[in-house]
This record gives sequence, structure tokens and C-alpha cells, in this order.
Amino acid sequence: MTGTETVLGAATERREGREKVTGTARYAAEYTGPGRAHARPVPAAVARGRVTGVDAAPALALPGVLAVLTHENAPRLAQPDDPVLAVLQGPEVPHRGWPVALVVAETPEAARAGAAAVRVTCAAEPHDVTLTAGHPGSYVPEEANGGHPAVRERGDQDAAFAASEVRIDTEYRVPPLHNHPMEPHASTARWEGDRLTVRTSSQGTNAVRATLAQLFEVPEEGISVTAEHVGGGFGSKGTPRPDVVLAALAARHTGRTVTVAFPRRLLPSLVGHRAPTLHRLRLGAGRDGRLTCLGHEVATHTSRIKEFVEQAAVPARVMYAAPHSRTAHRVVRLDVPTPSWMRAPGEAPGMYALESAMDELATELGLDPVELRVRNEPAEEPDSGRPFSSRHLVECLREGARRFGWADRDPRPRSRAEGPLLVGTGVAAATYPVLVAPSTASAWALPDGGFVVRINATDIGTGARTVLAQVAADALGVPTERVRTEVGSSALPAASLAGGSSGTASWGWAVHEACGRLAERLATLPGPVPEDGIGAHADTTGEADAGSAYARHAFGAHFAEVTVDTVTGEVRARRLLGVYAAGRILNARTARSQFVGGMTMGLGMALTEDSHVDPAFGDFAESDLASYHVPAHADAVGIEAHWVAEEDAHLNPMGSKGIGEIGIVGTAAAIGNAVHHATGVRFRELPLTPDRVL
Ligand code: MOS
Repeated sequence: MTGTETVLGAATERREGREKVTGTARYAAEYTGPGRAHARPVPAAVARGRVTGVDAAPALALPGVLAVLTHENAPRLAQPDDPVLAVLQGPEVPHRGWPVALVVAETPEAARAGAAAVRVTCAAEPHDVTLTAGHPGSYVPEEANGGHPAVRERGDQDAAFAASEVRIDTEYRVPPLHNHPMEPHASTARWEGDRLTVRTSSQGTNAVRATLAQLFEVPEEGISVTAEHVGGGFGSKGTPRPDVVLAALAARHTGRTVTVAFPRRLLPSLVGHRAPTLHRLRLGAGRDGRLTCLGHEVATHTSRIKEFVEQAAVPARVMYAAPHSRTAHRVVRLDVPTPSWMRAPGEAPGMYALESAMDELATELGLDPVELRVRNEPAEEPDSGRPFSSRHLVECLREGARRFGWADRDPRPRSRAEGPLLVGTGVAAATYPVLVAPSTASAWALPDGGFVVRINATDIGTGARTVLAQVAADALGVPTERVRTEVGSSALPAASLAGGSSGTASWGWAVHEACGRLAERLATLPGPVPEDGIGAHADTTGEADAGSAYARHAFGAHFAEVTVDTVTGEVRARRLLGVYAAGRILNARTARSQFVGGMTMGLGMALTEDSHVDPAFGDFAESDLASYHVPAHADAVGIEAHWVAEEDAHLNPMGSKGIGEIGIVGTAAAIGNAVHHATGVRFRELPLTPDRVL
């Protein structure tokens, strides 16, 4: 049995693994119930315009079709805070793929046939879906995502750049990217009077419940939302999505239990995407390799109905010492689906550009790219001047270089070949902020010696149930096996979402507090634990909202070895090695999975994931996994994740930083830098597909 001194950090297996691999774990679309119906949206076929007519008769004539909802007959909703949820409320079409009708039927097949039979006519208006660097409609927003100022300036970037001995002025482009979780978005809803029961695939059901209460103008107490198992989200399930609103609308309209399971083809237009980003980097340095200035300017798009600004220049405010700096975002409203959160929003595309430009600078200087980064290590956070709570980037770079065998590298580009293959290696740094949000939890001791921890955490496949049991066991001083965790329901103590790599820190903090209090109660208990147990509760609102005087970020280093086939242009990553400094690692097994998963997503970003907004039709050309290529098992070979021991007293009681997103940050740059080393050619647009590379 695990000793309590090693409970935290142990490579404990995830608790729901058996249920998942045997198919007994139930997902949102799998709650059947008597009389359950299925609904399927009808997507708009114009990029901008108005619905002028919906002929539902051909659909209603089909066997099994129960109803067709449109903006004319659907139940009215209160105005949502999030405009993407105002579905079937009016005739305006803000982008192609916007739901203009919803067919409810006895079976998924009948709903699909019905959706194909509905005749929608639209008055189309001219549209513009093409992002360009100098788009005349672009503007500087007040803020980029995460509340970051859109523009930050220190010193005089332009003058410093002009005066620098060595200058890199370069542009990079990251295409739109799609989250595509294994389980597409799905919700099952049932009304009984004004009481609403929802099963949904979400990263956080407290927000779903609050949103539904607001939209349908019913009390939150009458709404139950559960997300017991979630097949990934990567940000696309971080906020309530139209599937849950459509399911509740259809259930209200028909009086039936209704499931809306989005077909994968609808995800790109309905659940957000990573907006494309155009980057201009201007790095100035002395011959000694010290940065004199760092400019990172980003142009991106958002939709007509919502401003969402990918904060891709923000990591440049964290990474390197440079006396002069300008980091800025511009955005343009286009007739595109609304972009949203995707794993490491901001950092993933931003660090691709910055870390590629740093590699260009290293090449220009004839300086080792690891050494260049070490030389520009800041004493405090460059943008804010705050001290770092902990920063071990240099240790990650050194440890990664040692494990990878970096010292054996011939730095000259195109210096290594194996038959038709050119071989190269590259490095890039990674960073991701430490975020934390208020949560509540309860902990119970039972007479049989067991414990129950209750918290509305969401396990999106990361192992939240498991790691929270470890946190509880550690605080209680008992073996992990004695602790049961209940998560994934709005009936449990309210908690924050699984997003921003903040879940474990936020939930773990509340669990730790509740268990600490319970342990105190147990210590003073005169007799045995009573029949109905004894409990304790914690609410970390005060602690989480207090913030910190420190700049808190996780750091990492990525190393890649690639082959480039000179006959086919195919790039393969032979080895990827990541070393992270992310505070205390709470579960070695599930943490490794998170890091490797992030790196795998970075591999896709680097080599295969490509998406285009079709200028004629206005929607994404690649909307399924046959055209949007994510890495398969055969692509994800030789991926290693390691971490350095990091003690940080300024985080939370566990001493942990988030680990869910940093794995994708910098991976694409390490691969791109390795491709440059292999070929001597600098490609500045992702992904590095054979058509570009050959
Ligand atoms: Mo993640 S994009 O923070 O849900």
C-alpha cells in the first residue's frame, strides 16, 4: 500500500480507466431515458445574410420527424451574455454554419434525414472572411483575451531596433486550428415543469447551469447539469455551447427528453476555433547575443457577433530580458464563425512565432540557440517588473540538452543526411501562466474508515478524480484507496472549470482545505465516527481572489529531431523531448499523459493541422478528420516528457502549477527550428506539409 508520504506525486492509475475501456462509462449522448428524441441543427448555407423562409413541410412529412424549430417558433430566450448562444432567436445569419433550424425526431437517422429535407431560403449579403495583415477594417481592441492590455510598450522599440547591431525582422503565420475532441459536443435535456435536467459534455457545469437559468429565466436551483465523463474539450467545451441550448429549447418545445449530438462536421462552425494569427517579430540584439529590443505584433480575426482576441503577443511579455519592447494585437471582424479558446490560447501560436524568431537570431549570431535563451534570462518578469514566484527555464534547457544529446549537434544547417533524408534538431522554450479560480469542496469521514470528497470538478480525461483523491489522502494522512471522489455534477459543491490549466490547482486547494478541516474535527472527536459521518467544507474564494505579488508561470524546453524527405517533402518528428518546471507534479502518470498529449497536439500544429476559410463560401474547408489531419499513433513516436523538481511556496498548498497546456507551447517551434537545421530553409507558415517543404 502507498505510504502517505508518497501519496502526492505517485503514479496512481486513473480511477475511471476500466469503465472507459470497457464502454460502461456514460457520456452525455448516452443517457437514453424513456421517449428520448434526437435533434439535429440545419446549418446556414450563406456567410452573411438573413433567413427569408423555412419550409419545414418536407421534413415533417418524413417518418419519425416530430418537430422543426426555427427562429419563428422556437421558445424565446433572454439575451445571453455570450452571443453565440442566441440560437433560433432571429433571422440574422452571422456566418456560414450558424443554426437556422433544428429538426427533432425519434432517431438520429430521422433527425439527419429531416435536417437534409428542410428548405431554408436566405437573402445573402456580401461577405469578407479573409484575414490580411493590413486589413482596412482592423483595429486595436481594448484588451486581448485574459484581460491583457492589447498593447504594451517599454522604452522605444523602433529607435532601439534601428540602432541594434543585429536585427531580425520576420513574419510568421499560424492557420486557424480546430479543437476536435474525441467526443463531439453533445447534450441531453429534459424539462419537468420549470425543472431542467441536463447531461452535457462540458469542461465546467456550474457555468452551464448559470447560463441556462439566465437564458430560460428559471431558478438555478431547479437545474441539474452533469458531465460525468467528457471525451476531451481542449477549450471548446470551456463555455456553454449551442448544443446545450438547442437541446433545452427542443425539450421545452416537444416535452420530450432530447439529445443534441453535433456531428463532427459542425464543430468548426459551432464550437469555436483557434483564430489564425499573423505575426511580425522584430528582435534587436548586440553581437554578444543580448536582446536590445523585442517587438511582437499580431493580427487576428474575430466574428461579427463577438470580439475574441487571441492573445498571441502576451508570452513575449514574460520570456526575455529586453530593455525596449512593443507587444501589440490588432483584430478584424469578419463574417467567420466565432473563434474561441483552444489549448494554450495565445501561448501556442505566440510562442511558435517568438521561438522561431529566436532561432533566426541564434543563426544570425552564430550562437547556440540554448545559449541565446540562457543569455536573455530576465531577473524579473520583463513586462511587470514583478519577481517570479519560481522560474527554472534555464534548468529545463540544460536538462533537456543533456537528455537529448544536444552537445553532439553540428550546428551547421544541412549538415546531416541519411540517404534521401535530411536530419535536423531544434529547440524552443515554453511558458504558460499559473491560473487559479475559486472553488468549494466538502469532505466526509464515514464510520467504515472511508472518506468521500465532493466537488464539482470536471474530469475531461485528465484524471481529475484520481489526483483529487491523492490531494485528499495527503491532507488526511490516509492511503489514496480510502478516498472516494465525487465530481461532475452541479449538485456538488460549486467549482471552477477545467480550463486555463487551473483545474487541479483550484479544486485541489478546496479539497486540501476541506480535508484539513475534517482532519482537525476527527482529531478532537471523542468517540467513533457517527453513522451518518462527519464532514467539513471549504471555500477558497478569498485565497484564489487574493492574487499574488509574484509573476507565476510554468516553464519548459522542447527539443525535436526531424527528418525531411528530399524526395517527398515529408517531415517526420523522430524524437520530441520536453522538460518542464511546473511546480510539484502531483501524479507522475497522469501528468506525463498531459505533457505528452500537449506535445502531440503541438506535433499536429507543426506538421499536419491546416484549415482554410473558403473565400467563396465563408466556412472552413477542412471540417472532418479526413481533411483536418491530427497526429495518429504512428506519428506520435519517440515523445518523452520529464520535469525538474521545483519548490514554489507562492502557489497553493500543493505547490503545483498547471500542466494541461504547456506541452503544446513551443513544440511547433522546436520542430520548425529542426526543419531549418535539417534543410537550411526557414519556413514561416504552419503546417510544414510536403507541398510547402518540397
Ligand atoms: Mo483550455 S483552452 O484553457 O480550456
